[in-house]
Amino acid sequence: MKQLVIQAFGDADQLVQVESASAPLQAGQVRVRMHYAGVNPIDAKTRAGLGWGAQAIKDRLPWSPGFELMGSVCELGPEVTQYQLGDRLFGLVSGGAYSEEVVVGEHELLPVPSSVLDEMAAGVSLAGLTAWQGLTEHGKLQAGERVLIAAAAGGVGHLAVQMAKNMGATVVALGSVHNHDFMASLGADEVLDYRDAAQMTAMAPVDLLFDLVGGAAGLSLLSHVRPGGRVVTVPTITADAVIAAAKEKGIAATGMLKRNDNEQLAFLMQALAEDKFWVEVSQIYPLAEGNLAHRQIETGHTRGKLLLMP
Ligand SMILES: NC(=O)c1ccc[n+]([C@@H]2O[C@H](COP(=O)([O-])OP(=O)(O)OC[C@H]3O[C@@H](n4cnc5c(N)ncnc54)[C@H](OP(=O)(O)O)[C@@H]3O)[C@@H](O)[C@H]2O)c1
Repeated sequence: MKQLVIQAFGDADQLVQVESASAPLQAGQVRVRMHYAGVNPIDAKTRAGLGWGAQAIKDRLPWSPGFELMGSVCELGPEVTQYQLGDRLFGLVSGGAYSEEVVVGEHELLPVPSSVLDEMAAGVSLAGLTAWQGLTEHGKLQAGERVLIAAAAGGVGHLAVQMAKNMGATVVALGSVHNHDFMASLGADEVLDYRDAAQMTAMAPVDLLFDLVGGAAGLSLLSHVRPGGRVVTVPTITADAVIAAAKEKGIAATGMLKRNDNEQLAFLMQALAEDKFWVEVSQIYPLAEGNLAHRQIETGHTRGKLLLMP
């Protein structure tokens, strides 16, 4: 089976397609034929050797990226009780989704209802859990509050806008002008260009900042949080600096690392099936062109989600 791997950390061209042997199935495992794999910034950061992800795999190269998987069961291992051949599944895996086939324990993935498109299911697990946990568990967003979402047009942000609206919040969405119609279509109450100083100065203070940009941008957005307000800063590499600056201003601050949670994934899938939100897929790349997908995600200006297909 074809698989994208890196032999060493480096730029996007480190991703090369290889032919790998299919591992035999153990008890309770299924083989999933990948329909789509989600591409996330963590994939590119880890490939480049940055952050906690790279630390975790540095002694295990070659490594195949990809945490977001959607596919169908193509082989059943012994003692599998939950699934049948052809069942459509989605969820988070611990790497290796950039592969034609992935071996998973039958309890690792969840079923996709027939009414939900493959592409929607492929893009929801990592980005959706981050948006949901960020707004609810870490941000404690309440109905009637104002939330500022930075990077509102991106993979996590476009889901967060829709979820925050569903929770009854007033959503202020930050993005480039060419994304303003898109962000309004997600339900944002106010859409602002983060490069427009006048627009930014005129913004009324918010209760919660959901910072998906971090770094200098995250630091400067703290001035828009009301005294006693809250910030959740999501990019881990700059989280300590944003949290320290927030605390100096009397803002309650937290970083986060999304965790896998099958109950929450089932809840998000049900919400997708009921059209409570949707996943915007801006581009699908063939597996062999994973390097192009990484170059795009590394621009920091992707709308919605990118997917790979075999
Ligand atoms: N800690 C965790 O567990 C966790 C989980 C998921 C993601 N993350 C991190 O969270 C961040 C966001 O992830 P993502 O998947 O949503 O990324 P993404 O899809 O690559 O985000 C792209 C978006 O960022 C926007 N953007 C870029 N610079 C901006 C700025 N200065 N102000 C406002 N918006 C800006 C772009 O908007 P325009 O094109 O309109 O400029 C674009 O729509 C990444 O750093 C990722 O690694 C962390």
